Amino acid sequence: MKLTNVNENNWDELIKHDRVHQKLYTNQEIFAEEMTKIFAMTWVYLAHESEVPNVNDYKTGYLGSRPIIVTRDRHDEFRVLFNRCTHRGATVCRSDRGSAKVFTCPYHGWNFKNNGDLAGVPWPKAYGADFDTSEWGLKQARVESYRGFIFGTLNLNAPSLVDYLGPARELLDQWLDRYDGKKIVVGNAHRMVYKGNWKLTFDNAADGYHVSFSHRSLFETAGRMGEDKDMSYFAESPDYGPMVVQYLGNGHTFIDQRPNYKNIGDFWKQQRPQPGREVYEEIIRERYQDAADGLLDQAIGAQMYLNIFPNLCLIGNQIQVIQPHAVDKTELIWYSTTVEGLPEEINMLRMRTQEDFPAFGEPDDMTNFEECHLGLTIPEVEWVHTGRGLGVSGRQTVDERGVVSGPVTDELHIRNYYQEWKRLMSQPTTKTICENVKGGVSSL
Ligand code: FES
Ligand SMILES: [Fe+2]
Repeated sequence: MKLTNVNENNWDELIKHDRVHQKLYTNQEIFAEEMTKIFAMTWVYLAHESEVPNVNDYKTGYLGSRPIIVTRDRHDEFRVLFNRCTHRGATVCRSDRGSAKVFTCPYHGWNFKNNGDLAGVPWPKAYGADFDTSEWGLKQARVESYRGFIFGTLNLNAPSLVDYLGPARELLDQWLDRYDGKKIVVGNAHRMVYKGNWKLTFDNAADGYHVSFSHRSLFETAGRMGEDKDMSYFAESPDYGPMVVQYLGNGHTFIDQRPNYKNIGDFWKQQRPQPGREVYEEIIRERYQDAADGLLDQAIGAQMYLNIFPNLCLIGNQIQVIQPHAVDKTELIWYSTTVEGLPEEINMLRMRTQEDFPAFGEPDDMTNFEECHLGLTIPEVEWVHTGRGLGVSGRQTVDERGVVSGPVTDELHIRNYYQEWKRLMSQPTTKTICENVKGGVSSL
């Protein structure tokens, strides 16, 4: 098959009910189209409010492949500004995070307020009467925030963020409500880059099929410490176990491991051994007595894998961001989280979970992503099979909200999110709308 023009809406030839084409992972034109039709037209996760806690704080990042600055302006409103000087194009902010009322472009000194307005240019008398500073502010995206999570889009017609989240909102609430109203605080991150397409991560994010094979060494480590350790249930006939994979609509997917945890204290008891944690446990048990089991459960992940299309994955107690850089280059950013008001020892343990799956498990996955990419570069072998669970009666259910559920090893998440991908990619190219966006948004 020859793909001549990705704008010809021939996606039906590349996405079939039980397979997708390798070009979706390797074709440069398709990647460029995704950066507009997916990573500009949907709500894309950009930052957490706790990363810009005070007025005038900022954080830089990307909206798709566009460099941006997320600011909390002097009116305490969030802004998503293109990090692109309106003079000759240089980035105006070159730090990861900080505090600034004004961004001064290092190239020729144009300076911009943190709400995007052009504040001034050096030696302004050289500009004629028709130079209108209000025309030359930093362009900005539409921004909304839900319970601390800041998203941006270039689509003025996109639904509200809450509507976009749909049934994923309730699960996000559950992820946050484990802490009795206490707020999470996002900390520093593990950053990893692999040579492969960003969708390899999204495919994997709700993949309960690979776990007992890809992460065998983790099971073997845990197995030496006794049975019922974290994730060992993936190796015990997961097709017939209580875990489910779900498709939530709008591309969002979910794996629920919580049915494996029945009692307070189970989350903690079923963790893999982590050197050094015994000291913290001793202190917590001595100090908090009967409340210790509940607190220790809050040290570790929610056993929920919630994936908000296209780039946000809540995994355990971490926030993972999928950052595409090229068709064959993706960065994964695993942010640690602490919780305001929890004992310091519990937050220390939360930080140390960064040493667990991100350090010991994710390399297994990233190796597979790179090896998939290598295999997918063979043009003569066209198809990726996504049909597990198809045509087998009694495996899938659909509830009144349209949420599709099945055994955790099903590939229903891939089949369904690709339908949304196809819908988005089939839309006519929309002119970017940033010039029409005025005003930021306050915290919800
Ligand atoms: S490019 Fe920014 S001032 Fe010239
Ligand atoms: Fe994995």
